[in-house]
Amino acid sequence: MNLGVMVLPMKSVIAFLALMFAGPVLLAADLSGIWLHSARQPDGHTSQMVLALLQSGNTLTGKIEQPWGSLAIKEGKVDGNHFSVTAMNDEGHPYICEGTLEGDKLHVTVRDPNAQPYDVVATRAKSDPFTVANVITPPAVRDLPPNGLATTPPMGWNSWNLFAGRIDDKTVREMADAMVSSGLRDAGYIYLNIDDTWEGDRDASGVIHSNNKFPDMKALADYVHSKGLKFGIYSSPSPYTCAGYEGSYAHEAQDAKTYAGWGVDYLKYDWCSASNLYPDSAMRAVYQKMAEALRATNRPIVYSLCQYGRENVWEWGPKAGGNLWRTTGDINDTYKRMMEIVDTQSAIAKWAGPGHWNDPDMLEVGNGGMTADEYRTHMSLWAIFAAPLLAGNDVRGMTPDMRSILLNKDVIAIDQDPLGKEGELALKRSDVDYWVRSLAGSGIAIAAVNRANAPVSVKIPWTELGIHDRFVFKEVWSGLDVKAPSDSAFTIPPHGVVLLKMEMVN
Ligand code: GLA
Repeated sequence: MNLGVMVLPMKSVIAFLALMFAGPVLLAADLSGIWLHSARQPDGHTSQMVLALLQSGNTLTGKIEQPWGSLAIKEGKVDGNHFSVTAMNDEGHPYICEGTLEGDKLHVTVRDPNAQPYDVVATRAKSDPFTVANVITPPAVRDLPPNGLATTPPMGWNSWNLFAGRIDDKTVREMADAMVSSGLRDAGYIYLNIDDTWEGDRDASGVIHSNNKFPDMKALADYVHSKGLKFGIYSSPSPYTCAGYEGSYAHEAQDAKTYAGWGVDYLKYDWCSASNLYPDSAMRAVYQKMAEALRATNRPIVYSLCQYGRENVWEWGPKAGGNLWRTTGDINDTYKRMMEIVDTQSAIAKWAGPGHWNDPDMLEVGNGGMTADEYRTHMSLWAIFAAPLLAGNDVRGMTPDMRSILLNKDVIAIDQDPLGKEGELALKRSDVDYWVRSLAGSGIAIAAVNRANAPVSVKIPWTELGIHDRFVFKEVWSGLDVKAPSDSAFTIPPHGVVLLKMEMVN
């Protein structure tokens, strides 16, 4: 063996040691570029996520792209082969991707504040699937006349809150059966809406097909209709829905025809990563495009806009053809999130009315994350808001408590009141919020919500709430008569509600 080759010149040894002790940053690869995670799922769809990174020294900038939208990186760093990037989600919570570069693979842990952390592997890609070249210009904005639908807030059931990606044909049929047997249909819950993850591929002519969880959409719609229910579906103006399935971009008219052919009665149209294509200021035109496509089918289809309350959608939603529009980001099954949504609603109440409703998102009643009192508050406030009542629980097996909340005739009557005037926050007194909604025939509904973690005893401040005469109210959850102004003392459970519906003049 020639030992001579093992002897390194002193200069190289020093350089090597310097490299070792200067810290690993000097060894870091440049992470600049497009990193794509892509994985085929059992239902045939490919989930994708992109980190579009630009490295300067050990600082990273760029964006995190998911099918539901992209987030600008606010802070990013590289340390050796470890990297970390942080963005802020729409609710202002940190959304973090961090991990290591191993060979040519980026091992990423995604810390989404709304989900459990999960791991993905990304590799370098030449192009970004979320970037679209030559975006089709949306139509010129015009005022669409009302479509005559949803004269009261739509009621029904939607698959997302409980099932998310686990919804399939069999479950939808069982829900249809259960909506009838539980009495939900007869109480007014008419729409059975499939949310995201039904979408399959387009064929050579561009026609969308459902994926293997839904073998025959037309047959499923026929089944739902045979139960006396209406059938709803979901899409996005982006090439990808929020869960990364096929969206309607560049196929709007074709998709509207397909939906009408299947017998669709309701479309939820979800913005998701359409921000990669259009500025927010184009939202109205983009939503109008699908409204026009739906109307061109001549089938009455309720049109639900879902763009999380951006761009003051309540000001233009009806003119873009919308029957309802989401007013916030997503709800989840917690009292905290439900009340965050509640606190944004009063200011926009005046924009709701027959045919066009504020949508504070679907119901979580019965999903298990809140107490029965909290669910009663949720249901009461949604009724005060004249909100769409889309149940999101497993209606095949409801506890008596949850049934009694969803099926309470008086709370439904408040929600569906034909005047269609949304209620407002009238008064805050220590821990209690008082909401008042005007009802047809000079009626009034009042919700007193206890925000405290302990029971609270109150005296309803009738005069301050505009009740100057003697009236009889019904407390909706107990069924008891309440005479104003003599009956005023209540104890409201923690996070609970007293919901009063005017019955008759005393
Ligand atoms: C968005 C919507 C939700 C649901 C999901 C589906 O988050 O706001 O209501 O439709 O997309 O991916």
